[in-house]
Amino acid sequence: MKKVLVTGGTGFIGSHTVTELVDAGYEVVIADNLSNSRTGALDGIQKITGVQPAFEKIDLCDKVAFADMLRRHCGIDAIIHFAAHKAVGESVRQPLKYYRNNLDSLINILELMPEHAIEHLIFSSSCTVYGQPEKLPVTEQSPIQPATSPYGNTKQVSEAIIRDTVAASTNIQSIALRYFNPIGAHASALIGELPTGVPNNLVPFITQTAIGIREQLSVFGNDYNTPDGSCIRDYIHVVDLAKAHVVAVGRLLDRKNKAAFEVFNLGTGHGVSVLELVHAFEKTTGVKLNYKIVARRPGDTEQVWADTAYANKELGWKAQSTLEETLLSAWKWEKYYKESGGWE
Ligand code: WQD
Repeated sequence: MKKVLVTGGTGFIGSHTVTELVDAGYEVVIADNLSNSRTGALDGIQKITGVQPAFEKIDLCDKVAFADMLRRHCGIDAIIHFAAHKAVGESVRQPLKYYRNNLDSLINILELMPEHAIEHLIFSSSCTVYGQPEKLPVTEQSPIQPATSPYGNTKQVSEAIIRDTVAASTNIQSIALRYFNPIGAHASALIGELPTGVPNNLVPFITQTAIGIREQLSVFGNDYNTPDGSCIRDYIHVVDLAKAHVVAVGRLLDRKNKAAFEVFNLGTGHGVSVLELVHAFEKTTGVKLNYKIVARRPGDTEQVWADTAYANKELGWKAQSTLEETLLSAWKWEKYYKESGGWE
């Protein structure tokens, strides 16, 4: 049984990816500092898969503790690295928190991999590496514009660190997956998006407004150069995204990768505006949303969505869920979470 270390594995995308990895027959070890997640995700994974993966509460910026953990969990075949701060708006307010955490943790991974004979790394990258693209949709070859937020810049710099390290090393092989906007939840509603505190991201703020936790949704700007003035994103079901990670790790382990460092866009190929998403949520769930238009959020790009042809062809993977199905899964999760009394 191949063994995968998933950093950030109790987080939103991490927990869904762990679920798909276990279902695909992998042994999984989760490393997470619980800064933006809870151990309740472990119970959810266990209920879905019948397996509770090994869990290590650890700050990956602590290299000594990280090395000790790798000694205790030997025989790891690949690392999927999710653990990072990821809120665009927050990164504008606290850039050093983002540079320190997101870069130190990655550098520790790359330095420790050779010492523990770990050769394969899947990196959680982001469409924010494109900055504000001049041409849409973006392909993996689209020019990288200046990042519009420190968060996006940590992803640009992280990809460069991996690219340079792979070029200099003899045995690290890596794939960077550039996520667009992950939303939704597992069909069981036993795991989902559970941000700590006030949600930074749109969809959890919508579902928390719809269920009454939040008074009103603020739409950050309707004066952009888009059809309805609000920002456009490519919203992808988190389970579709998770399945792409299983494909990617298999690609490395089976040595099917065509270069030592590969990059793939993981999106649906469809751009949806904030207001379109709000109205789709209302129509799909029948729940009227209380929202108001406010000022733009610093760090936001105006519009970005994926050209998915390369990932579809090379990975043999394609996002399956419609926006409506995805929003319904997010809403089902929010309602289940409330009924279940929540996670400690
Ligand atoms: C989406 C749109 C906001 C909240 C995310 C992840 C990031 C990366 C890219 C993976 C924007 C608007 C939001 C609110 C709003 N993914 N909005 N009111 O900024 O695109 O980044 O996807 O790596 O990690 O965070 O996502 O959900 O914050 O914003 O109007 O209360 O919704 O202005 O236009 P973003 P988001």
